[in-house]
Amino acid sequence: MRIEIFKDIFLVAAGRFHYTNLLNCNVYLINGDKGLTLIDSGAGLDKSVIESIKDCGFDPKNIKLIINTHSHWDHARGNKDIKDISNCKIAIHKLGVDILERGSWSYNLKFEPVKVDIELKDGDKINIGKYDIQVIHTPGHTNDSICLLMEYNGRKILFSGDTILAWGLLGMTNFKTDFKIYKDSLERIKNLKIDVLLPGHGIFIYSDAYEHVEFLLEKVSNPWQDFIPFPHPLLARLRSKLGIK
Ligand SMILES: [Fe+2]
Repeated sequence: MRIEIFKDIFLVAAGRFHYTNLLNCNVYLINGDKGLTLIDSGAGLDKSVIESIKDCGFDPKNIKLIINTHSHWDHARGNKDIKDISNCKIAIHKLGVDILERGSWSYNLKFEPVKVDIELKDGDKINIGKYDIQVIHTPGHTNDSICLLMEYNGRKILFSGDTILAWGLLGMTNFKTDFKIYKDSLERIKNLKIDVLLPGHGIFIYSDAYEHVEFLLEKVSNPWQDFIPFPHPLLARLRSKLGIK
């Protein structure tokens, strides 16, 4: 399958669409004119991302760079396989370097560490030929989360990793999540007024993506929030137990 989101930007994995391995995050390929760049690499549980790159008409050996949006395994575990094929450079925020080089992930997934070549920090600019990518450090989902801003034919495209998903969804959080820091990151993204959102999971947004950012910020700024969808499925079950339709 060949999914070209915009000219030069391809979707080469998306587990939630059952496109490649189910556990892969969304993986994007950008064809600059200095070789190919991947945004994330997927879970690396099989060779489906590599096959998908071929299906899009590219030789995986021509991958020059993987920019990791963060160190979660479903985004970064695939680095090793792709580096082995292409000898590409691996980039991640400096706070994620140790995780990739030590290979300490949850779920007891066997994992070979991979050497990081480029330690990123907020404000870095990465040139990939005809496109420039700006690094925005957006801690919250993880400490090492970054969003990547690319100016594209007058549009602002944001590769958001798991920091923000379409329709105002947050990436996975847990009881250790610092929501104050997360919210500050969302404020920074809001100020970018992005047009296009290419997130780490689920659908992408082609235009007016800032609306989705603003919606999420409103949601997390309310004094109280109904995070559980209503009507809740459990409510229907309890009602039917009581004989109420
Ligand atoms: Fe994640």
